[in-house]
Amino acid sequence: MMESKALRIIHLETTDSTNREAFRLLGTSSPPEGTAIVAMHQYSGRGQGQASWESEPGKNLTFSVILRPVFLPPANQFLLNQAIALGVRDGIAELLTPKENVLVKWPNDIYWKDRKVSGTLIENQIMGNRLLVAVAGIGINVNQDQFSNDAPNALSIKTITGTEFELSKVFETVFSSISWWYRVLQNENHKQIRESYLNHLLGFGETRRFSHEEKEFSGEITGIDEYGRILIRESGGQLLNFDIKEVRFLF
Ligand code: BTN
Repeated sequence: MMESKALRIIHLETTDSTNREAFRLLGTSSPPEGTAIVAMHQYSGRGQGQASWESEPGKNLTFSVILRPVFLPPANQFLLNQAIALGVRDGIAELLTPKENVLVKWPNDIYWKDRKVSGTLIENQIMGNRLLVAVAGIGINVNQDQFSNDAPNALSIKTITGTEFELSKVFETVFSSISWWYRVLQNENHKQIRESYLNHLLGFGETRRFSHEEKEFSGEITGIDEYGRILIRESGGQLLNFDIKEVRFLF
């Protein structure tokens, strides 16, 4: 997407949410694919579902990338989630050792072992049978030292490595690896995306504890189906599938 045109990065000191900012921009102009909006401070950052995204001002990366995946049938939307997740995962893994500890937690969080370093919220604009626009909003915990009690599972790159990272460097690394994986998607190398996603999927092939509608169970993650549902074989039981937010990992 991005190498042929001049890179457009919009730097903001403060905004409510870079995803909202991206949609406002799309409402008033026609920003080229690959345009990124980066904010030092979001006062109303949004997470998956009803959640909010808390990030200490100036310490972390919060940005959104405008994409136009018109080539992707809406039924294949989850491949976009997977490509973005792999981009963020590989970018973060370039900064950390051992890289094997950097995992994708279904659907598109990035974890260091069992703790969350990054979250992504992708919002789509579909018209007819076309995915016209996707805004991929990415939050990466970079230099934050402490997290609120609401986010007991969070940690930052600094808490892993003990060193501060320059935000612009982390952005460049992650952005170029997102571009690389987006190119794989454009080239319709779907198999490469699905395989790499499973290779880096937290809990894949392991027996873990989950909860669904207040009930706890253990099972093995056996894969992801084409709609992006997670497949879990209940211990001694049947193969179940869950949509986003229908199942929770217990750590
Ligand atoms: C999640 O893990 O629940 C998703 C978090 C997504 C946060 C990012 S930060 C940049 C972009 N703008 C937002 O308001 N949210 C996303």
